[in-house]
Amino acid sequence: MTQHVRGVVAPGKGEQVRIETIVVPDPGPGEAVVKVQACGVCHTDLHYREGGINDDFPFLLGHEAAGVVESVGDGVTEVAPGDYVILNWRAVCGQCRACRRGRPWYCFATHNASQPMTLTDGTALSPALGIGAFAEKTLVAAGQCTKVDPSASPAAAGLLGCGVMAGIGAAINTGNVGRGDAVAVIGCGGVGGASIAGSRLAGAAKIIAVDVDDRKLEQARSLGATHTVNGKTTDVVEAIRELTDGNGADVVIEAVGRPETYRQAFYARDLAGTVVLVGVPTPEMKLELNLIDVFGGGALKSSWYGDCLPSRDFPLLIDLYQQGRLDLDAFVSETIGLDDIEAAFEKMHRGDVLRSVVIL
Ligand SMILES: NC(=O)c1ccc[n+]([C@@H]2O[C@H](COP(=O)([O-])OP(=O)(O)OC[C@H]3O[C@@H](n4cnc5c(N)ncnc54)[C@H](O)[C@@H]3O)[C@@H](O)[C@H]2O)c1
Ligand SMILES: [Zn+2]
Ligand SMILES: [Zn+2]
Repeated sequence: MTQHVRGVVAPGKGEQVRIETIVVPDPGPGEAVVKVQACGVCHTDLHYREGGINDDFPFLLGHEAAGVVESVGDGVTEVAPGDYVILNWRAVCGQCRACRRGRPWYCFATHNASQPMTLTDGTALSPALGIGAFAEKTLVAAGQCTKVDPSASPAAAGLLGCGVMAGIGAAINTGNVGRGDAVAVIGCGGVGGASIAGSRLAGAAKIIAVDVDDRKLEQARSLGATHTVNGKTTDVVEAIRELTDGNGADVVIEAVGRPETYRQAFYARDLAGTVVLVGVPTPEMKLELNLIDVFGGGALKSSWYGDCLPSRDFPLLIDLYQQGRLDLDAFVSETIGLDDIEAAFEKMHRGDVLRSVVIL
């Protein structure tokens, strides 16, 4: 029996989101229906609404969620009804060229549900990142459900489903931040803030936070930044060099997704340093660099979802959260309802929040 639930839909490019009735089919083979308990508002949801990701409107937004498995389809063994899970957008296939070479975090054929969720008139919805969790219930591939300790609060745990995992992973997995490193993070929203927390977990000695908003810089300090730079009033590259004995940082993480901040990250790296792009650019953005400066050394990497493996990283980070070593609650600026997504986008735009989290 299909179910009718409330969900947040982006109907067309740049149009305001609307609450719609979503038709959720029963789970087919390999699928699960999850009762969503909490879902964070990520900048990528806004990118979808603005047509910055692709044109497959209408989108069912929301992709940073925790909840409880309600029902599973045939052949599902990894989760069962009642399990408390974080939803992930990397259910690895185990068979593609990346998986076969033992690098499943690069999987090229990740699983999503095969049946569509629809509007009541039958229009198929494109769930954001294959999840669509600004809805009371959502249909996903069973592999998109990662079981974690049920005593972790849904608002905090759900954040590992996207932005916070992306940020922590950009530092730990992609940037390979290690003990004693100097790290600079440009853009200290939910993602960049998590890169700061991740760098602290990894033992970085110096963590330089860069943002154009002093409120973000203050929060960055509480997440572990040792130094802060306001890019509005200060030359970012010079400031990072000054703070690193003139050398630049070992790892520079760009968490804005713009050419000008990527350029700063590139020139603020030490000679053998690593630049990690975790901010998502739009298709028309371009960057010109002198090739001789690229030749200067180091590594330029991009980080999708923090190169995470949900089955490995989510339970581990939840453990650290439970032990008080990773303050996920610090990322939850406010809890809101499904009707408040547009207001949350506004607040994100103004820089008022690290994360607004929808509670269902
Ligand atoms: N790669 C991934 O897997 C992944 C996952 C989630 C989000 N993202 C992307 O990461 C980026 C950040 O997401 P978020 O949720 O933290 O967004 P956010 O809006 O909360 O944070 C962006 C931050 O950048 C700051 N900023 C803006 N312009 C700046 C500038 N010129 N210099 C310095 N700081 C500046 C803002 O003040 C804000 O604090 C987005 O592009 C988002 O789409 C990527
Ligand atoms: Zn694969
Ligand atoms: Zn996201």
